[in-house]
Amino acid sequence: MLKIEAQARAVQSQKWSAAAGQRLTALLLDWFARSARFLPWRQNKDPYPVWLSEIMLQQTQVQTVIPYYQKFLETWPTLAKLAAASEEQVLKQWEGLGYYSRARNLLSAARLVINLHQGQFPSTEKDLLSLPGIGEYTAGAILSIAFGKKMAAVDGNVVRVFSRLTAIPWQPADPDQRREVRRFVENLLPDACPGDWNEAMMDLGATICRPRQPQCPMCPLNEICQARQLGIADQLPMKPAKKPVPVKKLVVLVFSNQGRFHVHQRQGKGLLAGLFEFDWFDWGEAAAKGDPDPSSIQAELGKRFPKAAIRPLGPYTHAFTHLQWQMDAFLITLASQAPFDGQLDVQSHDFWATPEQLQSLPFPKALDGYRQKLLPG
Ligand code: ADE
Repeated sequence: MLKIEAQARAVQSQKWSAAAGQRLTALLLDWFARSARFLPWRQNKDPYPVWLSEIMLQQTQVQTVIPYYQKFLETWPTLAKLAAASEEQVLKQWEGLGYYSRARNLLSAARLVINLHQGQFPSTEKDLLSLPGIGEYTAGAILSIAFGKKMAAVDGNVVRVFSRLTAIPWQPADPDQRREVRRFVENLLPDACPGDWNEAMMDLGATICRPRQPQCPMCPLNEICQARQLGIADQLPMKPAKKPVPVKKLVVLVFSNQGRFHVHQRQGKGLLAGLFEFDWFDWGEAAAKGDPDPSSIQAELGKRFPKAAIRPLGPYTHAFTHLQWQMDAFLITLASQAPFDGQLDVQSHDFWATPEQLQSLPFPKALDGYRQKLLPG
């Protein structure tokens, strides 16, 4: 059954391509020449800034990326300078951009390019895919934009555009169907300027052929768009039913002692690894325990820390893409006068941070609201 569906999509897309494929490139590039967005990474087609922008643009909106991209290049104008940076410096600059594994992978990849490729950014798909953080889409974008190679860069936006152009209900989230679109796009790419073609598609998907309320009257491709002719552009691509996002209920404990705050560096490679956080415990599955009740938690903390002053810092919810943290936080001011030096204990990754250090450590956005409540001013 599934194979028959894929065959049907192949036949339908070939038919569309035979009728409109040539025209597509002419219309698209003509529109791009007139209407391309003015974006800082379009001023320099060297592989390093192109790669940096593509990594930052993974899962992040253009407008959010711009200031990070500019500051990053001011700090590390060359790949060699980036390779010499520490992970903590890179994470600090990445603070607020999210998906921190991108920052760690960026640094590892920069060091690999310096050490394994003599500082020359790789220009083949195989070498690019071997670098951490580079998948098929990013490899296609870098190869076409920085090296002028005829490689497709197909993400969910491009699948949406082609789903509408051909009126084929390709599913952006299905990796096999994305591959079908990629093969289809490879046959449409022009020899002369594949990078412009890919970037034009990105602009079209972001500004005109948007997920909701596509701007069909303004679209340069509307004369060859099947969905437009059928009046179904806003219904494509069809979305699979959404699964509910899992909720994690956390109780955050901010220990304070003599004006310093206890922080801990997250280990491993998982969510937010390398960033600092306060102490916390997992309240457990919502269904199993019910909502945490702040006043009873505060009473319980009072029993555990009888000499401490305990102050609620309030509830806060942070939504990651696949997970939600619902937090309740408490400031626990200890009465201890024990001396400490405020150095990071490398073994346990624990640290009593001064307010200045708290401000300058890389922290997840999810905890920044609490951090700001603790800082003066
Ligand atoms: N999204 C991903 N890559 C992009 C680029 N080069 N220009 C605009 N948006 C993008």
